[in-house]
Amino acid sequence: MSGLVVAMDGPSGSGKSSASRGVARALGLRYLDTGAMYRAITWWMLQRGVDLSDQAAIASRAGEPALDSGTDPDAPTIHVDGVDVAAPIRSQEVTAAVSLVAAVPEVRVRLVALQREIIGSGDIVVEGRDIGTVVAPGATLKVYLTASAEARASRRTAELNGTAEPNGTTVEAQQAAMARRDTLDSTRKTDPLSMADGAVELDTTALNLEEVIAEVLRLITERR
Ligand code: C5P
Repeated sequence: MSGLVVAMDGPSGSGKSSASRGVARALGLRYLDTGAMYRAITWWMLQRGVDLSDQAAIASRAGEPALDSGTDPDAPTIHVDGVDVAAPIRSQEVTAAVSLVAAVPEVRVRLVALQREIIGSGDIVVEGRDIGTVVAPGATLKVYLTASAEARASRRTAELNGTAEPNGTTVEAQQAAMARRDTLDSTRKTDPLSMADGAVELDTTALNLEEVIAEVLRLITERR
């Protein structure tokens, strides 16, 4: 299956990560989490005290950190300047700031180039917001995952709490935070979140993870 590229885009909480990793595992493909790259550069900016309300300041430092993304779906890794940042990039501080950094064109140009280098000749599942539209418009299959705002917020809350029974208030807070991030991601000037031409929209609201993976595998088989 030389040259297979599966682009998995969609808003936060749509189930991209679990589905992408599951599909990569099932087919023995590599897996790239591009969101982790935007989070990693955001973590680095916060560490350096860069003023994230200042786009020019972000732009001027976008080329500095050395990023290294591992592509094993069973154990994806991310290092910045040699530091393992897999845990800190999931902090609330990074989550709240990442869309500001991801909106800066100089950041995107750099990360898109890195992503294309990693994608190389293919055999990879890539998740993000602009994979089908910008990073790999020639992908074998482009999937746009969606789910209702409620479903996305309760999944994310359950993930964060490590329980399937999150309390209502937390789900509401999560829904508000996700709505803010989705608005920033889909209204930014450079590479906004949007469904690519030729993408298949997959609403995961009523599907469990196995069903989502099975559907993506079916779509891949159709295209091979
Ligand atoms: O997927 P995840 O929630 O980890 O992504 C974090 C943020 O990184 C997104 O909210 C978005 O601002 C940015 N991002 C992006 N383009 C991508 C992947 C992520 O702008 N391809």
